[in-house]
Amino acid sequence: MNIAILPGDGIGPEIVAEAVKVLKALGLRFEMETAPVGGAAYEAAGHPLPESTLRLARAADAILFGAVGDWKYDKLERALRPEQAILGLRKALGLFANFRPAICYEQLTHASSLKPELVAGLDILIVRELTGDIYFGQPRGRRSAPDGAFAGSEEAFDTMRYTRPEIERIARVAFDAARQRHKRVTSVDKANVLETFQFWKDVVSDVHKDYPDVQLEHMYVDNAAMQLVKEPKKFDVIVTGNMFGDILSDEASMLTGSIGMLPSASLNEKKQGLYEPSHGSAPDIAGKGVANPLATILSAAMMLRFSLNQPEAADRIEAAVKTVLAQGLRTPDIHSEGTTRVGTTQMGDAVVNALR
Ligand code: IPM
Ligand code: MG
Repeated sequence: MNIAILPGDGIGPEIVAEAVKVLKALGLRFEMETAPVGGAAYEAAGHPLPESTLRLARAADAILFGAVGDWKYDKLERALRPEQAILGLRKALGLFANFRPAICYEQLTHASSLKPELVAGLDILIVRELTGDIYFGQPRGRRSAPDGAFAGSEEAFDTMRYTRPEIERIARVAFDAARQRHKRVTSVDKANVLETFQFWKDVVSDVHKDYPDVQLEHMYVDNAAMQLVKEPKKFDVIVTGNMFGDILSDEASMLTGSIGMLPSASLNEKKQGLYEPSHGSAPDIAGKGVANPLATILSAAMMLRFSLNQPEAADRIEAAVKTVLAQGLRTPDIHSEGTTRVGTTQMGDAVVNALR
């Protein structure tokens, strides 16, 4: 089991260190090699995704990724910004299937900005397509507007596009996932306006014919954004494109009140995967030892389950996380009255102890 460790920027190195500690405590044999990515790689090698880091990632069974980005790189040209590392890895490894669970942990129900009864027991899985859509569609760029009321003015443009096979494979991923859950899929589109998403809706309906046991519903993205805060528990699996999935997954994660708790997985056809917390690099708290490592630790659990074929080890980590929450240990982001405030390493140590 070969794991590439890419800690990245901001709190990335701190939280990844805790997840590595937890992996090492499992008593399994892993080969782990670390490489810089994002702003850290730009500093070290002049590029956010150096060739050596990409080579390590390609050769690994799984990648444990921290986070990338810092405001100080905002002025760099786009190709050198830290975010290009994650986009580059997704594209280069074909990581088209992004799983973003939004789970409301029992002890953290009150941390949500929604009423506790709306989120208690919430368990949604967002399946986001990750290598297509307007994120990667060509052509894109800046030019002089060729037509329209402002012809001749400076303009910028991107291209939203999806091919049938890209939609089919992500739809299958979502239907398969639903079979392991409550057998309901909501496909989110904007078919009332966009050609790309009328096509999306048609293709998802075609694939659904192979899954008569799964219930499929179509929903426009604006309505989905609203339903997520109105009645989030009515969702089971949400499947959508890259752009809408980016937005809805942030919205869904915050319903749980604990973005510091949510893992994610991005898989390709070979089940090689990149595992990262759903939150970002949080440069404002970097180096202070207060970041919540649980999302990264839970990402390591997803890695064991999806890419390394170690479901029992994954269960053990998830159980250990529940134990530390039950013990009342909380990093500042999830802290509330009557619980014990701990730092990043103390939280990691507590998970290691709970494993034993
Ligand atoms: C995410 C992030 C990325 C995205 C950025 C950092 C490129 O927001 O993983 O959701 O837009 O996909
Ligand atoms: Mg995002």
